[in-house]
Amino acid sequence: MVGLMRVAIFNQSGGVGKTSLTRDLGYELATRGQRVLVIDADPQGTLGSFLGMEPAARPREETFWAAVCDGAEAAPRLWPTEFDLTIGLANRFLVGDELSLMQQSDPARLLAVVEAHLTAYDWVLFDCPPKISEITLQILLAADALLAPVQTEAKSVESFAEVQLEVVRAQRRRKNMRLPPLRVLGVVPTLYNPRLVLHRHHYAELTGRICPSFGFHVFSPIRDYVAVSEAGTRRQPLKCYAPRCPAAADVAALATAVLQMSSDHG
Ligand SMILES: Nc1ncnc2c1ncn2[C@@H]1O[C@H](COP(=O)(O)OP(=O)(O)OP(=O)(O)O)[C@@H](O)[C@H]1O
Ligand SMILES: [Mg+2]
Repeated sequence: MVGLMRVAIFNQSGGVGKTSLTRDLGYELATRGQRVLVIDADPQGTLGSFLGMEPAARPREETFWAAVCDGAEAAPRLWPTEFDLTIGLANRFLVGDELSLMQQSDPARLLAVVEAHLTAYDWVLFDCPPKISEITLQILLAADALLAPVQTEAKSVESFAEVQLEVVRAQRRRKNMRLPPLRVLGVVPTLYNPRLVLHRHHYAELTGRICPSFGFHVFSPIRDYVAVSEAGTRRQPLKCYAPRCPAAADVAALATAVLQMSSDHG
């Protein structure tokens, strides 16, 4: 037990591996005896699908966000999965709930729900949607830490400045609301293929120049293996589907690093 850590898995760019990382890091932490809750914050419901929960077929009341939208007093709906992880689901009803949350103009509603109802976990991982939206802004207030997956490709590395800008904005909002600063655990290079010169170049840029200039730590990368995608279609965490895949070892190394950070902090 290391104490509660609420982590936003955040990058406003699409397809950088946020959902896969939430699934696999969450599962890896759970295999180490941590109590882990993962929360899907994307109306596409990919995280729920990845964990075999069939979110698309479910009514609004079965999603996590229904209670968040309806009021902080209501306990959000959480579900056990087959994989020792608990999940808060999202599906297309999140689109309407998000609009309604905007109209209610209570930026700290999610934070209130989290503080009132989600204290029985060591880790709460929020899988952010690939955009800056009301839900993302609320997550950046409700989380206390952030992990930013970044692909080692030109477009992704260039757009990293936007991630940094969003972190600065979140810190400003948190300060205005007298919340402690978000702890940036660091950048996780994803979909990394060390055989590609360009990937090695962009990884070196991230570690040698870009992240140090913002004071961000860079974790060792999660390599690109087709088994990571296949695990998604098989509705399993990578470590269940392909335990010997080198990307599973990469996730394990990341879990060790974040556990160490959380115990240093606690
Ligand atoms: N390490 C990896 N190796 C191979 N494929 C990967 C890896 N990580 C993610 N992928 C694949 O890349 C695609 C995008 O990954 P994922 O859905 O996790 O990204 P995302 O950032 O959550 O996307 P979105 O922004 O749409 O929510 C998926 O098809 C996934 O299976
Ligand atoms: Mg996703």
